[in-house]
Amino acid sequence: MDTNDKHPHSSESPFEADVSRKVRTCVVGLGHWGPNLVRAIERHQRAEVVVAVDQSSERRALISQKIPNLPLEATFADCLEKHQFDAVFVAVPTELHYQIGMQVLQAGKHLFMEKPLAGNSQECRELCEEADRRKLQLMTGHIFMFNDGITTMKQIVKQGDLGNLFYLHSVRTNLGPLRTDVNAIWDLASHDISIFNYIFESLPMQVTCSAYSLLGRPMQDVAQGTLVYPNNRIAAFFVSWLDPQKKREITAVGDRKMLVFDDMKPERPLKIFDKGITVSKPTEYSDNFNNFRMSIRDGGCLEPETTTGEPLFNECCHFIDSVIAGTRPRTDGYNGFDVVRILEALTRSMSEGGRPVSLWHQESSATRRAS
Ligand SMILES: NC(=O)c1ccc[n+]([C@@H]2O[C@H](COP(=O)([O-])OP(=O)(O)OC[C@H]3O[C@@H](n4cnc5c(N)ncnc54)[C@H](O)[C@@H]3O)[C@@H](O)[C@H]2O)c1
Repeated sequence: MDTNDKHPHSSESPFEADVSRKVRTCVVGLGHWGPNLVRAIERHQRAEVVVAVDQSSERRALISQKIPNLPLEATFADCLEKHQFDAVFVAVPTELHYQIGMQVLQAGKHLFMEKPLAGNSQECRELCEEADRRKLQLMTGHIFMFNDGITTMKQIVKQGDLGNLFYLHSVRTNLGPLRTDVNAIWDLASHDISIFNYIFESLPMQVTCSAYSLLGRPMQDVAQGTLVYPNNRIAAFFVSWLDPQKKREITAVGDRKMLVFDDMKPERPLKIFDKGITVSKPTEYSDNFNNFRMSIRDGGCLEPETTTGEPLFNECCHFIDSVIAGTRPRTDGYNGFDVVRILEALTRSMSEGGRPVSLWHQESSATRRAS
C-alpha cells in the first residue's frame, strides 16, 4: 500500500494551507483504552482533544479527576451540538463500532476506529464507502502496524534475511481481561491476522479454526486457527484469556534463519536465530527416507537494535498526519475490512467444527480502494 496515496477524491487539505491550524479531536469511549488515546493524541504538536465522551457517569467522574480540564459529554450527539472538531477517535465495544462510526462520518468528521473495524464485513464496507463518498479519512486501529519491532521484522523478511519464509505463528495469552461483546478470536487474533497479512503482503485463501468456551460463557475464551496464504505459506495463532502468562509472540521460520518477536520485551523485541535444517537427497535413487541426509544448523542468536517508539503514539500520529496531509492511512478502512472478512471466515470454521473455509474469491483491498 502506498502510504502517500492521496485520497481518491481529496481536495487540498485545509491543514496544509494553514500550518498553525491544529486537528481538533473528540474521543468516544473512556473505558480501559480511550484514556490512552487521549494521552497519545495530546502529545502530537498539531492535535488537541477538545472533548471526550462516555455514556457512563462513573467513567466520566473518574476521568474528570485524572484529566481535570477535558470537557466531557454523555453522548456523541451532545458533542456535535456543543463542540467544534475535525476528527474522532472511537474506543467503544465492537458491537457499537458501526453505529457510532456512521454517526461520525455522516457528521463530516474524519474517523479513527479501534480494531476490529466493525462487527461484520457488510458494516465495514458501508463505513469505507461512506468515508470515500464524503472524502474523509478512515483509519482502523491495527496498532501492530505501528510497532517498531513488527516493522523491523517486516524489513528483515522483505530483504530476504530469513530466506524463503515457511510459516508464521503467534501466541497471545493472558489471564483476562474477559470481554462480553466479542470472543478471544475477534479481540486478540485480530492483531495476529493484521500482522500476518502485513508480513506476507497478501490475504489468506483458506482458514480453519477451533475455539472453546472453557468458562461456560457465550464468548469463546481460547482459540487456535490456521491461515493458508498463497504459495503454500501458513500462519497459525493461539489466543487465550485463560492463561497464567501474558505472552505476545510472533515466530517467523524461514529456510535460512528464524526470528522471534516478543512484545513483552519492548527494549529488544527481536531475536534472529541462525538455525535451520537442510535435507540433502541421496546421490542414488532411494525411496527410503533414512537415506536422506539431514544437517541441522544451530548457529548463534542475534538481537538487532530496534527503535522503540510507543506504538500507540506512532499510530495516533499517523492518523493525525494523514488528516493534515489529506493522505490515506496505511491501515485504512479497507485494511480493517480485510481483517474482518478473515475473522468472519474463522468464525464460520469454528461453528462448523473446524471445517476449512475458503476465501479465494476475496478481492484485494488495493483493488477496492482504486475505485
Ligand atoms: N489497540 C489495542 O491494543 C486495544 C487495546 C484495548 C482495546 N482496544 C479496542 O478499544 C475498544 C474499547 O475497548 P476497551 O477495552 O476500552 O473497552 P471498555 O469496555 O473498557 O470501554 C468502553 C467504554 O465505552 C463506553 N461506551 C459504551 N457505549 C458508549 C456510547 N454509546 N457512547 C459513549 N461511550 C460509550 C463505556 O461506558 C466504556 O467506558 C474496543 O474496540 C477494543 O477492541 C484496542
